[in-house]
Amino acid sequence: MDRAAALASALDARGGRRLPAVEWPEELASTSDRLKALARAGAPEWTTVLADRQTGGRGREGRAWASPPGGLYLSVLLRPRFEKVGLLPLAAGVAVAEAAGELGVRVELKWPNDVLASGRKLAGILSEAASGPGGVEWVVLGVGVNVAIDPAALPPEVAGSATSLRAVGGADVPVAAVAAAVLHRLGLCYDGLASRPGGVMTAWRSRAAPWWGEQVEVRTGEGELRGRLLEVDDDGALVVLVEGRRRRLLSGEVTRLRPAAAAG
Ligand code: BTN
Repeated sequence: MDRAAALASALDARGGRRLPAVEWPEELASTSDRLKALARAGAPEWTTVLADRQTGGRGREGRAWASPPGGLYLSVLLRPRFEKVGLLPLAAGVAVAEAAGELGVRVELKWPNDVLASGRKLAGILSEAASGPGGVEWVVLGVGVNVAIDPAALPPEVAGSATSLRAVGGADVPVAAVAAAVLHRLGLCYDGLASRPGGVMTAWRSRAAPWWGEQVEVRTGEGELRGRLLEVDDDGALVVLVEGRRRRLLSGEVTRLRPAAAAG
């Protein structure tokens, strides 16, 4: 059995949904780019693309995602028919957190969807969507998890802030087992978004980095702002108190300010 078939049957054994198609070559530029091409050609929901390594892995905010062997690089195609599509990236964060928990690793989620272990980045999620006259037509969720990568294979600018399941003492399992766990959990969260989206947000908040009430800086497409972190609301927006006004942010990069920086 090849690995794509092994993944499908591992999911089956968990009682997870059947994947209509799985591609898993050794190398791709980006699993999300490949899957977006399949999405445009009409591929069905839950079509899944993985690769052992990526040569052009992409992260959020136009950054690169270093993708040496030993990582999980997975993209899954969704065609949601429910309202709260904006919560999908957060739901994916919950799914990755639950999968890590299965392997004995406790993680924290940092808005919108960074997955941290011991304060370092363990996994990232990239959500890309296309809309038509009827609303969102498809979403490609790209998930990168540092399973057992060699830290020396990471570029120096990310090596200091990244970690892996292996480095934080997670169970030593093959990448395919991590993929099956993530896909299974993602399926459950996806169903949850359709039936009870509040439950997904409760799960997200219970794993969120506890920065509430602290001074943060948020970099958005329109610039930077500083304020006190209030909450992540039921639509997945970050709410920050800036000069006495509540600001709702739908995307951006949040960092915690040290007291000295916050005062200044
Ligand atoms: C982030 O910046 O935190 C998101 C990283 C997302 C990386 C994954 S790896 C699989 C998929 N293919 C890509 O090119 N990117 C995503």
